[in-house]
Amino acid sequence: MQVELKPLQLSDADTLYEFFQKLPASENSKNNRAHGLSRKEFTQWVQKEIDYSQGKNLREGYVPRTTFVMYVDNIPVGVSNVRHYLNEKLEKYGGHIGVHILPEYRGRGYGNIIIMETLQKAKEMGIKRILIFHNDDNVPAWRASERVGSKLDSINIIDGIKVRKYVFDASKL
Ligand SMILES: CC(C)(COP(=O)(O)OP(=O)(O)OC[C@H]1O[C@@H](n2cnc3c(N)ncnc32)[C@H](O)[C@@H]1OP(=O)(O)O)[C@@H](O)C(=O)NCCC(=O)NCCS
Repeated sequence: MQVELKPLQLSDADTLYEFFQKLPASENSKNNRAHGLSRKEFTQWVQKEIDYSQGKNLREGYVPRTTFVMYVDNIPVGVSNVRHYLNEKLEKYGGHIGVHILPEYRGRGYGNIIIMETLQKAKEMGIKRILIFHNDDNVPAWRASERVGSKLDSINIIDGIKVRKYVFDASKL
């Protein structure tokens, strides 16, 4: 099995359009803003994501973030994001990384793999203490985080939702 986590690129827009339409629009605070876009709007969205990765055209209160697509044997199966740094709000809820696996590929261990690969990218970006938040009822997500070695820091109620905060020490990679 060959696994590759590739930053989203304009040249991949053609091949990834269908993938992003199949990925749900929103689940467990993980949003796919490309869902429901026309083909033309999708290309504009990809460009926007590339801009965000370069710290350009960020909305008020947003920090730079890079979007990756995980390919398994050259087939796109998931998406992840790395925020380059956090602001006060994201330190409390949001964290550095988010992951999303296409429903048809769930339950095969790809959640564990995408978290591990994304932590590696975060480390390469110079993040030493990587924060990851999961809703308490999102068992597959926090189990995957624990499986790769993240440590539970605290459990808090945020906007009425029970949220688990994990910390991953990048020196472990
Ligand atoms: C969370 C998510 C990425 C997990 O992906 P996945 O490919 O199904 O995960 P895996 O198959 O690697 O399973 C991860 C762990 O959860 C467990 N798990 C999987 N499905 C489960 C379920 N329905 N109930 C309980 N545990 C489950 C697995 O056994 C595994 O734990 P283990 O390694 O200790 O056995 C995927 O469900 C998803 O994209 N969800 C929507 C978006 C989201 O919630 N993202 C996380 C917030 S950032």
